[in-house]
Amino acid sequence: MDDPIQRHPTRAEQLDILATIVAEQTVQGDRLVDLGCGGGYVADLILAKRPDLQITGVDVSAKALAEAAGNLAKYGDRWRSVEGDLMVASEIDLPRAYFRIVYSALTFHDLSDSAKQSVIAWAVEHMSDGGYFLLYDRLRLTEAELFPPQQTIWRRIERLHGDGMRTADSFEAYVDDLGNTNRPAALGDYFDWFASAGLSMAVLHLHGNVALIAGAKRR
Ligand SMILES: C[S@@+](CC[C@H](N)C(=O)[O-])C[C@H]1O[C@@H](n2cnc3c(N)ncnc32)[C@H](O)[C@@H]1O
Repeated sequence: MDDPIQRHPTRAEQLDILATIVAEQTVQGDRLVDLGCGGGYVADLILAKRPDLQITGVDVSAKALAEAAGNLAKYGDRWRSVEGDLMVASEIDLPRAYFRIVYSALTFHDLSDSAKQSVIAWAVEHMSDGGYFLLYDRLRLTEAELFPPQQTIWRRIERLHGDGMRTADSFEAYVDDLGNTNRPAALGDYFDWFASAGLSMAVLHLHGNVALIAGAKRR
């Protein structure tokens, strides 16, 4: 399956790390949740490595879920899906304390900060003890004086990969571009939100402003 999101040259490595962690930190039959699953690209990466796992995808878009159903039909009932809005995650019907890993890729920046925080706490309620929350998304840049080195990273990615990530000509333009479908959270906020949800947190991979973060549910 081709990656539908082509503008993130570092995404391939970060998603491969995510899928490898899932493959090594699960046992046969473990259940996972994919928040904002889209057409199922990330689930396909995981199920290709570990077809014995079961993944439930959540997405607000019926069209995306229909695409995922087609793309993942080869895995039979190891792929399931629930249509639901993460802005009101408490209304999404999932079994509690049941999932070994909850993960989300490039979706949290679509949510308000209060929804991000609620989704993390809600995910923890649905994770078994010792379970993991894996989050891959852009982070918010908050310091104008540190924007130039970030621009260097974007330019370097463009030189190396022939394509860039979301970029901006100045810190002011970057801030102006923030909006309802582009509201990444700052790394410091994630440390606070993970801790208050009962997760210990580590940054597993960080390239410029794109991070793969892990939380472990305390036993
Ligand atoms: C950029 S796509 C990423 C898809 C997939 N995770 C991937 O990495 O290939 C973001 C996905 O999040 C979904 N999404 C956005 N806001 C959502 C919400 N409030 N509740 C559930 N899903 C949402 C979108 O429908 C879309 O499928």
